[in-house]
Amino acid sequence: MNKYDVIIKKFDEVDSTNRIALESETAPHLFTVVADSQTGGRGRLGRSFFSYSGGLYMSVVLDVTELNIPLNLCTPAAALAVKDSLEHFGVGGIKIKWVNDLYKNNRKICGILTESRSDKGKIEKIVVGIGINLTEPEEGFPEDIKNKAGCAGYYGNKQTLAVDITKRIGALIKSERDDIISRYRHNMAWLGERVTVTDYSEKNKKVSGVIIGVDENCFLSLRLDDGTEKLLSSGEIV
Ligand code: BTN
Repeated sequence: MNKYDVIIKKFDEVDSTNRIALESETAPHLFTVVADSQTGGRGRLGRSFFSYSGGLYMSVVLDVTELNIPLNLCTPAAALAVKDSLEHFGVGGIKIKWVNDLYKNNRKICGILTESRSDKGKIEKIVVGIGINLTEPEEGFPEDIKNKAGCAGYYGNKQTLAVDITKRIGALIKSERDDIISRYRHNMAWLGERVTVTDYSEKNKKVSGVIIGVDENCFLSLRLDDGTEKLLSSGEIV
């Protein structure tokens, strides 16, 4: 893992580390923008991401020519990297909620938003944005997320964590697709349990079934009540 050189650019507060990383013209592979807090943290589906000072907000630049795995596996690889890193520093009990959230004690402690930049229709740069709630916010979580947000319980140095996560991402994107998928499957929340999912590719229809795992594209595989298997490309477990 140590052979991956990383460059960290650290800020106290920015609007969005993803914005900075995406707009940087010169950022090389594994260049990482880190901030203690964000004023305009971006979440999935155009949502905002609560970015208080007890969290770690980081965006890792990936050069697509460096990837050994398909583009759509960068987010799952990052989820594994964050989990592995937090475990390395003594934070256990983390599961991956398909597709890109980390949960601990049934609460969301980390979200990941991968964005890309294209040139003449071709993706040339990927930015993997990671927001981790490390310690409890002094004034608690905002009303709209207080029933589902939690924190990792990491009290160590943020920069050390950011460097470790970046190196792990660097290593995982060089690994084999099958390894990512098999490790992802093993670390999924509610594997073998019944869940309800909002299916984004079918007009947000709700689908219930037992989680079997993920396929080679990290699509969610559910066993429906009639015994058939359904694959979901995008959605959210509710
Ligand atoms: C989500 O759960 O909806 C994804 C949240 C991703 C948040 C991170 S924080 C660092 C990076 N910068 C951003 O503006 N967003 C991502």
